[in-house]
Amino acid sequence: MTSEMWQDLDILACPSCHADLSVVDQAAFCVKCTARFELVDGIPDFLLSASSRLANEIKVQDEVAENYESLRYAKWYSRKYHEMWNTWMLEGLAESQIVLDLGCGTGWVSRAVNSDCVLGVDVSMHMLREARRQGCHVVRADAAKLPLRSDVFDAVISRSLLHHLEHPQFAVAEAARVLKPGGKAVFLDTNRSLLSTLPRFLAYRQNNFSETHQNLRFSRLHNLLSAEFQIERVRFFGYLAYPILGFPDLIDIFQYLPAKRFSFTLLTSVDATISRIPLINRQSWGTIVFCRKSTDEKG
Ligand SMILES: C[S@@+](CC[C@H](N)C(=O)[O-])C[C@H]1O[C@@H](n2cnc3c(N)ncnc32)[C@H](O)[C@@H]1O
Ligand SMILES: [Zn+2]
Repeated sequence: MTSEMWQDLDILACPSCHADLSVVDQAAFCVKCTARFELVDGIPDFLLSASSRLANEIKVQDEVAENYESLRYAKWYSRKYHEMWNTWMLEGLAESQIVLDLGCGTGWVSRAVNSDCVLGVDVSMHMLREARRQGCHVVRADAAKLPLRSDVFDAVISRSLLHHLEHPQFAVAEAARVLKPGGKAVFLDTNRSLLSTLPRFLAYRQNNFSETHQNLRFSRLHNLLSAEFQIERVRFFGYLAYPILGFPDLIDIFQYLPAKRFSFTLLTSVDATISRIPLINRQSWGTIVFCRKSTDEKG
């Protein structure tokens, strides 16, 4: 018997052994290892177990979920600036593709995708409830153990997830597994540069955001992604615009600037120019890496 709550049985699989699932009385079972998965508030829960580090991450994300968008995107300039990130990430993704949003949070990027077939995955139930409330289609799972069949998605997008992970290589490998050969993967993440390190060092006396959140060097991100994908393009972004527009909930410098519309355009234009200058552009706050899964069986 198939419950309509488990509407994705054609793409879902056991996160542990990747075998098919069968649904009985609202719960799903792995036909091979018999693992059982429940619906929690209508959200399929595929989290197998959580290390103390992951449990802590879930706790932190659950706590920030409710105010995640209302604080960061409360000001028009911050919302508009972050919408620009989405536009850059989603550039070139054709309509009506099957898309996976890894570490979807409240669905901020999922909602910007021009497709009816977007699945969001996250570990935080509070984030997922908010995403679902906003109309996103979501499941709960660890990005390193996806409850998904291989070779099903046309695109995988992931914004600001990798630096949260202890072993980001497992999530990258899973992203590659579930992508169709020739499919696109787009990762937006932090960039450890002079510009992004100095304020963090002054504020926290360390290069990373916290003990568990890394500030990834571009070389590390590149190595991680090139192990699984062909890297097609890199966009470095965020020089003046990010610290001034991007997190007014922490520091709101922009409120003191005159002629706001003009200042916004000026800041984003200066950033766009810097992002085109080789080598100098690497001193950015963020990186977007556009990848493709090889169509070659070997890899
Ligand atoms: C900075 S938020 C980004 C959310 C969203 N992508 C966005 O741009 O608004 C990072 C997200 O990654 C999720 N996350 C952290 N570790 C994860 C894991 N192991 N598997 C899946 N999601 C995870 C967190 O719960 C959080 O929602
Ligand atoms: Zn199984």
